[in-house]
Amino acid sequence: MNQKIKTSIAFTKNLLVTGAITETSREVEVDICKYISKEDHKTVVEFGMGHGNITREILKTISPTSKLYAFEVNKSFCEHVRETITDDRLIIINDGAENLKKHITGNIDAVVSSIPFSFFSKKKGLAIIQSAHDLLRHNTYYSQVLYTKFNFKKFQQIFQECYMVSNKKTITEHIYYCKKISTL
Ligand SMILES: C[S@@+](CC[C@H](N)C(=O)[O-])C[C@H]1O[C@@H](n2cnc3c(N)ncnc32)[C@H](O)[C@@H]1O
Repeated sequence: MNQKIKTSIAFTKNLLVTGAITETSREVEVDICKYISKEDHKTVVEFGMGHGNITREILKTISPTSKLYAFEVNKSFCEHVRETITDDRLIIINDGAENLKKHITGNIDAVVSSIPFSFFSKKKGLAIIQSAHDLLRHNTYYSQVLYTKFNFKKFQQIFQECYMVSNKKTITEHIYYCKKISTL
């Protein structure tokens, strides 16, 4: 059985937590990384690592001196990525995005997320977005892929500049790009 099918089975078995039956499409894996800096010493955060498809793309994008902190609630997904991706820049955190500030205290330079906001309460969703906004440096982005447009308003409540792009091929995938703007 090929890896894509194995991942789909694992996602489907955990549907209430994954919110998906397949991995994000190749187009989205690439597009969602477009605002990640290639410069040295950057800190990138991923929410919802799954089996590591977007993780690989982020690692391809960042510099050798940058770090990627990847949050994932499912322990076996974390083990899978530990076994399949060997990269000193990757720090896997087996915890929820809602606990971001327990693990990271300094500034971050990008957030890339595929966690299923439609399955979270409004309070939990807003708290995740707010804590990411708090840690992001000015003029950097939180990029989120979702299967619905309904959560866009939550991001607009917190981020100063947001726009959404729908994947023309799959139609069902929408990327929200949200920029933190300096208020000074
Ligand atoms: C739709 S899947 C996306 C997986 C993969 N990144 C992709 O693009 O195909 C969402 C992932 O988020 C994880 N997840 C769900 N709630 C989470 C949370 N609160 N914090 C971190 N990860 C979470 C799920 O276990 C699942 O692996």
